[in-house]
Amino acid sequence: MSTKWLVVATAVLAACSNEGPAPGAAIPAGRFDAASIARGAALYEEHCAQCHGPQAQGHPDWLTPSDGSFAAAPPLNGSGNDWTRSRAQLLAVIRAGVKRPDGTAVMPGWEQRLSARDIEDVMAWFQSLWPPPVYESWYKANLAATKG
Ligand code: HEC
Repeated sequence: MSTKWLVVATAVLAACSNEGPAPGAAIPAGRFDAASIARGAALYEEHCAQCHGPQAQGHPDWLTPSDGSFAAAPPLNGSGNDWTRSRAQLLAVIRAGVKRPDGTAVMPGWEQRLSARDIEDVMAWFQSLWPPPVYESWYKANLAATKG
């Protein structure tokens, strides 16, 4: 199973090695370029890994109902709810972060600290971990939404 995904991902990456997701542009038909993924991996490791896990697997307790005393970061590797969010929703969470109703930040916002390109690259990195069928269904839903 994982070998098959790797083969598909490699083939798709090779097919579009010069096209990265440009901010504000239409979502590219292929996956992501290697430079974008590499930049995104470094940014992710620095800013996101401590909560979302080094491989974006999420905190082990992310499905445990919280009594309000903790907020366990969910996976970003395509195994949680991440891929059910639209591109706009993912961007909005990363830019603004997440606050509880009382104003406590459970996830910091990154708009002031990361550029639009940084955020695109971080998204490229974690979306490159999504199994191709998951990415394809997300991509189709988002393409349909932008045409809507
Ligand atoms: C201090 C811990 C922390 C850090 C650092 C952090 N996050 Fe989060 N993140 C969370 C938590 C907790 C949630 C869930 C918030 C909620 O309950 O809605 C979350 C949610 C998300 C979501 C929504 C996922 C979903 O399933 O809807 C995305 C996307 C995300 N984070 C991306 C990032 C990125 C990218 C970075 C680094 C630039 C980052 N996060 C850094 C704690 C963190």
